[in-house]
Amino acid sequence: MDSSVPLVLLLLMCSSIMVEAQLKVYNLRATGLPTVVVLTTDAFVKLSCGFTSLGKTSVRYNDANPWWEEQFSHFKAKENDTLTLKVYDYDLIFNDLLGVCKRQLKVGTYQHDCFLTKGGTLHYTYTLG
Ligand SMILES: *[C@@H]1O[C@H](CO)[C@@H](O)[C@H](O)[C@H]1NC(C)=O
Repeated sequence: MDSSVPLVLLLLMCSSIMVEAQLKVYNLRATGLPTVVVLTTDAFVKLSCGFTSLGKTSVRYNDANPWWEEQFSHFKAKENDTLTLKVYDYDLIFNDLLGVCKRQLKVGTYQHDCFLTKGGTLHYTYTLG
């Protein structure tokens, strides 16, 4: 019998008990984003988990209460990793940071509201597991 077979099985068993889990972030929306005179916010969100960038949403133009259909996944997330969501007001020259949301991940599905320092609230849901 090929002696490498048991080793492969052992590796498969080990990988299945590793603590890494899949993270999914979805249902992103914001309410009451700040309006500067007649200019409403062109908002987008950048996401990261630990030091890994998960990407960013599209820009929602002229919308103080935007929502985003994008979902973000990370296959190497771990419990207690920090999920960071940064909300920006898009601008050609300089993206204005509206607020930062940080959350220590737990296993399960959670919905959170995060108050942004420049006004408004970001709502999002994540699932880790
Ligand atoms: C996550 O943090 C909690 C509380 O600090 C701790 O009890 C738990 O063991 C940690 N989990 C991992 C995987 O580090």
